[in-house]
Amino acid sequence: PRENGLEAWLRYASLPTEAAKQYPRYTNIVALTDSKSSPVCTAGKEVQDGLKKILNQSANIRHKFDPSEQLSSSAIVVGTQDDFPWSAFPSLQDVKNTVSSLKEDGFWLGTSTFKDEAQTVVIIGQNERGALYGAMEFLMRLAQNQPSPASYASSPSAPIRWINQWDNLDGSIERGYAGPSIFFKDGAVLDDLTRVEQYARLMASVRLNGIVVNNVNSHCNLLNPSNLKGLGRIADAMRPWGVRIGVALYFDTPIELGGLKTSDPLDPDVVAFWNDITTQLYENVPDMLGYLIKANSEGQPGPLTYGRTLAEGANLFARALKPHGDGIVMYRAFVYNHHLDESNWKNDRANAAVEFFDGLDDVFDENVLVQIKYGPIDFQVREPPSPLLAHLRRTRTIIEFQVAQEYMGQQSHLCYLAPLWRTILDFDLRIDGEPSLVKDVVSGERFNWKYSGYAAVVNVGNDSTWLGSHLAMSNLYAYGRYCWEPSSDEAAVVSDWARLTFGLNPTVVDTITQLSMESWPTYENYSGNLGIQTLCDIVKTCHYGPSPAAMDGNGWGQWTRADAHAIGMDRTVATGTGFSGQYPAEVAKVFENIETTPDELLLWFHHVPYTHRLKSGKTVIQHFYDAHYEGAENAQTFPVRWQALRGLIDDHRFQHILFHLTYQAGHALVWRDSVNTFYHAKCGIADERNRVGNH
Ligand code: GCU
Repeated sequence: PRENGLEAWLRYASLPTEAAKQYPRYTNIVALTDSKSSPVCTAGKEVQDGLKKILNQSANIRHKFDPSEQLSSSAIVVGTQDDFPWSAFPSLQDVKNTVSSLKEDGFWLGTSTFKDEAQTVVIIGQNERGALYGAMEFLMRLAQNQPSPASYASSPSAPIRWINQWDNLDGSIERGYAGPSIFFKDGAVLDDLTRVEQYARLMASVRLNGIVVNNVNSHCNLLNPSNLKGLGRIADAMRPWGVRIGVALYFDTPIELGGLKTSDPLDPDVVAFWNDITTQLYENVPDMLGYLIKANSEGQPGPLTYGRTLAEGANLFARALKPHGDGIVMYRAFVYNHHLDESNWKNDRANAAVEFFDGLDDVFDENVLVQIKYGPIDFQVREPPSPLLAHLRRTRTIIEFQVAQEYMGQQSHLCYLAPLWRTILDFDLRIDGEPSLVKDVVSGERFNWKYSGYAAVVNVGNDSTWLGSHLAMSNLYAYGRYCWEPSSDEAAVVSDWARLTFGLNPTVVDTITQLSMESWPTYENYSGNLGIQTLCDIVKTCHYGPSPAAMDGNGWGQWTRADAHAIGMDRTVATGTGFSGQYPAEVAKVFENIETTPDELLLWFHHVPYTHRLKSGKTVIQHFYDAHYEGAENAQTFPVRWQALRGLIDDHRFQHILFHLTYQAGHALVWRDSVNTFYHAKCGIADERNRVGNH
């Protein structure tokens, strides 16, 4: 069959006969639940489907375990720890302790024998979701020809592992590069939610458990009666996969939908309005995650519009949610002035989050979490971690990543992002002089939080590849894997994904792994080096393609301060914007000093002459020239190396990817020449190797 990409990494391709032979014949699947909407029931069906596809075995599903029965051949038992028939498996008594110490959504996967006869695969979830995750782990191992372990326990690093879709009600997607929305069209929720169910299946397989379905730039038309019902249908479609939904709200809804004179968060009518909306939402979505709020950001109204604090704005929603259960407010830290005056050298958008949230740590209600983009600016190719991550101690946080490659070639370029995420997650903020890796802050470990974690902007659309490009899907897969285990090895993760997506041929897996691992450094080389950010178009806000000139003279505060002699933002406390001083002392010291600032972030923190020598011994300008040549040169090899896989994967996906990589190779040359020519013209310094300006 033509491989269209819809199954993504859950193809469950059949194993070669020799490999398939080593597995037992599974005849019974026991999914320990009666409820059809339970993830345990989903797990049973998924295992049945997977066995058929991977091993060509047909197994029955039953929902009760009968200890008096003889299991003539191997069975697979899946359920929660509460429903598991422990007494029928004396050899698993020790496992009981392991299972009871699993974190929420964790699972145990192993093998046991039943009545000393048939070997049984046992999958026990800490809860229903965990049981489903264990079942999908079993299948994804099988699909990679990795037999089930004798005993394997796994728990998530953080409870919040969510997606933010930026889908608009009209069916368009902000920063969407893969067709229209799978959720909405013409102002309403789609009738056919098949793709939504399929999406939830992909999410469950990488253990993502929540999703905000509409754009952070939201609109009050989400909240009309038929859309409230529609949201209920979306929640129903995703619930069997253990995925809960939340919504993004527009701050001025009381005025625009409610006809009130104000949206002041302290106004009693506004409070009553939101209480009423919240009640209606819970009537349709009883397990709603909560509200995502973008306020006082990029022209959006918010509490500051009404002379109130950000905390007063967030608490308004928190109090509306409180009576209904465990719903939270995800209050975005992305608050900044987008009409910033570049002529003032003290102005710095990077300072905004810490300044706006200063003094609020103790005043947010306990069900408010602050959602912080990984870097202080906006999903750039290289940023230091947001210093706000070191400021909130009582207020719990969610770190925000972007699977959508907004500044990273928009899914037309291969750019595997796990290595970038690791630079953030492994960064030690040294809060109070103690080890404080970002991943330990986010997991809740550093400040003893019970509920915190991850969100990522994902722009799946109706395209059969989901993201518009087959290879871009490794980012969605890896995002789930990193939320669960942020210390995972990036190459191992992408290799797993490649095996599941394209099959077990080692040449295929190695090639995809190598290209993916090279892709972010390559992209950084030809797009923006030394911490200068992705040099793309900011003024037209498409954020695509080279436009170094657009990186200054804009109100957005994404600046390089490049002139004829020097380049970079002086963010030091001594002479610059003071941003480096927002980090805890040990980190601040490193970035304050030009000698200790790593080359890759030099221009993020310092304004230096083009002739400044890097630790590598090169000047800044020569590094620019060389890196752009190296990056573009490496991108030329991508389609060539891909060509070697012809015939090793299906032709449809082979061609589709070849097209993308060929395009990327061409566009990398455009990037190289645009950026190099621009800076060459600006500073007049010749390329030592005499390439730039000589076309
Ligand atoms: C970026 C992006 C916008 C988005 C915003 C946000 O600026 O370009 O499209 O609305 O981030 O995260 O709110």
